[in-house]
Amino acid sequence: MSLSFDRSAALIAENANHVAGGVNSNFRTGMAGGPLVFQRGEGAWLIDADNNRLIDYYCGMGAMILGHTPAGVQQAVKEQVEKGILYAAQSPIEFQAARILCERIPSAERLRFGSSGSEVAQAAFRLARAATGKRIILKFEGHYHGWFDNILWSTAPAQNAAGPEEAPVLVAGSKGQDPIDAAGLDVIGWNDLGRLEARLARGDVAGVIMEPAMCNQGAIAPTAGYLEGALVACRKHGAILIFDEVITGFRLGRSGAQARFGVTPDLSIFAKAVANGFPVAAIVGRAGLLDMFATGGVLHGGTFNAQPVTMAAMVATQEALTPEQYESASKRGVRLRDGIAKILKEAGIKAQVTGFELMFHVGLGLDAPARNCRDLLKSDKALYVKFCHALLKRGVRALERGAWFVSFAHDDAVIDATLEAVRDAAKEIA
Ligand SMILES: Cc1ncc(COP(=O)(O)O)c(C=O)c1O
Repeated sequence: MSLSFDRSAALIAENANHVAGGVNSNFRTGMAGGPLVFQRGEGAWLIDADNNRLIDYYCGMGAMILGHTPAGVQQAVKEQVEKGILYAAQSPIEFQAARILCERIPSAERLRFGSSGSEVAQAAFRLARAATGKRIILKFEGHYHGWFDNILWSTAPAQNAAGPEEAPVLVAGSKGQDPIDAAGLDVIGWNDLGRLEARLARGDVAGVIMEPAMCNQGAIAPTAGYLEGALVACRKHGAILIFDEVITGFRLGRSGAQARFGVTPDLSIFAKAVANGFPVAAIVGRAGLLDMFATGGVLHGGTFNAQPVTMAAMVATQEALTPEQYESASKRGVRLRDGIAKILKEAGIKAQVTGFELMFHVGLGLDAPARNCRDLLKSDKALYVKFCHALLKRGVRALERGAWFVSFAHDDAVIDATLEAVRDAAKEIA
């Protein structure tokens, strides 16, 4: 099987006359087959402009945990649209959505809704600074918390720009970022408690933000005791600990990575899978912090916050995230993850397949599992791009940064078909 993507390529070229680059996010370019245009989704599948049926492991960059056409979510959205679209006020459906998250997420005593992960990260920084009276937000190399000027630093720094591992420097992620924004930020390596403690001891850190498992790059679990130690160190030095659960949120379990690892941060942010592809994000945390939005003089706004149609999608998504569904989807995810590792090994391709049940990472050319983003830099990216292209030609769409997102709709037949394609693609690149 060797699919062609000519119609997508023609549509992208034609529409680049209106949409810059033919895409509406820079993260939708750069793939070997070129950016694709899709007509529709069906469960684990996407149907593109060339009528190719592709098994999808982008899953909306992690958002589509129920797959592309979950009946309950679709129905809830239709019913809510009938009742109106935006009230610029409160609605019962947003209170229902809030209650569900507060019951499910250990750190969620209170919350506020927003529309994107980037945006609620900003709300977290503002709260941390207001609560502590300090300025610095401390982030970690390789962790991504949105595309805004004050945080898009050192997300995927080139080794030659990033400085020494024990004292990394901030590397801008884009031209046009205001350098003054870096003045409120600092960066260190992740998964190293000694370094974190030493940085916090300087006493100027308002908030520490991390993905509790590093998933925007790689799929790396925290080392034993790291999250617990980070919380203790933050308490000791008066900093707010913020977990970015935009990816981990509903992929490492429906109560987040914080429940899985048993560490409750001060604040956390959620987006992506919280509403299965509808633009819902949330900042949740200690009541004393979140209530600063109500009575502490800290401003939080947004025309689309808690938009009722998206809230209906969120409630229906959360209702579909049952323990039984997690259990069965996780079994299939593990079968896929371990199956890919076995096939690559048999084909003589050096690889590390690491991560979790519904989100894992394939790194070619690595001798050992990565502990942080510097380790990931040693992977053979060019070979992985070839692998993804070989998969795409065989009807499997996988992200070229190595991430695989599995949904509840990826049934056993889909996993079998994927493993078949992986076997063929591995032969092609071996
Ligand atoms: C860990 C993490 N945080 C924050 C964001 C930003 O979320 P959004 O794209 O909804 O602004 C992303 C997006 O990929 C993410 O992966």
